[in-house]
Amino acid sequence: MKKINVLLATILSLCVVSCGLSSNKTNSRAIEVETPLRPAGQESVLGLVTPKLETVRVGFIGLGMRGPDAVKRFTYIPGTKVVALCDIEKDRVENTQKYLVEAQLPKAAEYYGTEDAWKALCERDDIDLVYIATDWKNHTPMALYAMEHGKHVAIEVPAAHTMEEIWALINTSERTRKHCMMLENCCYDFFELTTLNMAQHGLFGDILHVEGSYIHNLEDFWPYYHNNWRLDFNRKVRGDIYATHGLGPACQLLDIHRGDRIKTLVSMDTKAVTGPKLWKKYVNEDIDDFQNGDMTMTMMRTENGKTILIDHNVMTPRPYSRMYQLSGTKGFANKYPIEQYLFRPEALNTDEVPNHEDLNAHRPVSEELKKELMEQYKDPIVKELEQMAKKVGGHGGMDFMMDYRLVYCLRNGLPLDMDVYDLAEWCCIAPLSKLSLENGSAPVMVPDFTRGEWNKIKGYRHAFVEE
Ligand SMILES: NC(=O)c1ccc[n+]([C@@H]2O[C@H](COP(=O)([O-])OP(=O)(O)OC[C@H]3O[C@@H](n4cnc5c(N)ncnc54)[C@H](O)[C@@H]3O)[C@@H](O)[C@H]2O)c1
Repeated sequence: MKKINVLLATILSLCVVSCGLSSNKTNSRAIEVETPLRPAGQESVLGLVTPKLETVRVGFIGLGMRGPDAVKRFTYIPGTKVVALCDIEKDRVENTQKYLVEAQLPKAAEYYGTEDAWKALCERDDIDLVYIATDWKNHTPMALYAMEHGKHVAIEVPAAHTMEEIWALINTSERTRKHCMMLENCCYDFFELTTLNMAQHGLFGDILHVEGSYIHNLEDFWPYYHNNWRLDFNRKVRGDIYATHGLGPACQLLDIHRGDRIKTLVSMDTKAVTGPKLWKKYVNEDIDDFQNGDMTMTMMRTENGKTILIDHNVMTPRPYSRMYQLSGTKGFANKYPIEQYLFRPEALNTDEVPNHEDLNAHRPVSEELKKELMEQYKDPIVKELEQMAKKVGGHGGMDFMMDYRLVYCLRNGLPLDMDVYDLAEWCCIAPLSKLSLENGSAPVMVPDFTRGEWNKIKGYRHAFVEE
């Protein structure tokens, strides 16, 4: 009898150990990357506010396909001055001056001709903000140099590609007390802003799962990137190297580092089929080492038990999609391929919302009710800027709303909509998905980039001047 008891106890304890290992509370098999200690004498920039700027004086670096439109948008934003323009290519700088001339503004100082002409722009003492729209490898070095020279920085997506770059941006922003914002324009599209507002009013209940993606067949664009930088990067780097368009809006819905944080990720990709063919077409070389798969998927889990799925595919013919889909305990929203909402009937206040008989828990609300809800929950940013944004444009207006908000917050001494920790969380998917893929899709722990402050702010909110 004693022997049987010992045996039972052993089986029981083995069972406890193995149950412990398979429980979703343990991360014993996940790969952990280093979280460097915050350097002494340095504080977090969570909620950073800087002295109000009456006029935001801007220098632009990188005037290829993306940069010149940003310059044009700034000519429509009150309280700004375009001080300097920089690109390696002289003609790109000269051509961009036309937007200032058209707006009857003085021409900007010009920097061009060498790989590091941009340094002189950063060294000027009459610039507050350096706006960077170059190829990816230049983003972080330029941003670091600009912050070291007393400038706020706004960096195109993705701002950084390695953990070293990400921590360097965080540490430099914390030490210099300068804003370091990634220009994630997809957080400002009309449907996203309105849906975020609905989410903040509780219409979807507890949001448990969000999907986002960058599915954009770049077939028409590959030949136009300066010196083929983008295809070259795809050749060299495996993983989701362009996750921020899908992830940014997802993280805002889930209050990431405002009460929750991404804890673990797992990635899987297809083999690279289209990349080598593109290389043959544009570089005329047969290669067998193209790294980036045609399709990459990354799943994440948060501290509070929420999940995120992000897809990346810039290779195969598919309709453009950033997905933007959320599942909550009371409702659902989806942007691509069609914008739709679904709610449990009790999720909506039926006194305010007519046509409530249209509601059931199995199909989306009618087009009419969707329109009414979108009008009722129109985000204050959209309410204020919609007309102007549609006129000025930039992906239909979202780029204008992003730039306008950046200037508004700088002029009013408010925390920016997106801080350096957002940048870090959205950019780290590139190096960490690569790590997961290279280890047979192993789970990888996502560092807490706030170094202990992810739960300090309760809920994501845009800042406004108090009336
Ligand atoms: N948010 C969006 O919707 C969106 C859309 C398109 C591109 N982007 C991003 O914008 C950035 C630029 O993309 P693009 O399509 O304009 O590429 P591009 O190749 O057309 O332009 C890059 C420009 O940077 C310049 N450049 C490179 N090195 C430089 C240096 N050392 N000094 C000064 N200028 C330098 C090049 O001459 C070129 O004009 C990328 O980060 C890209 O991911 C974002």
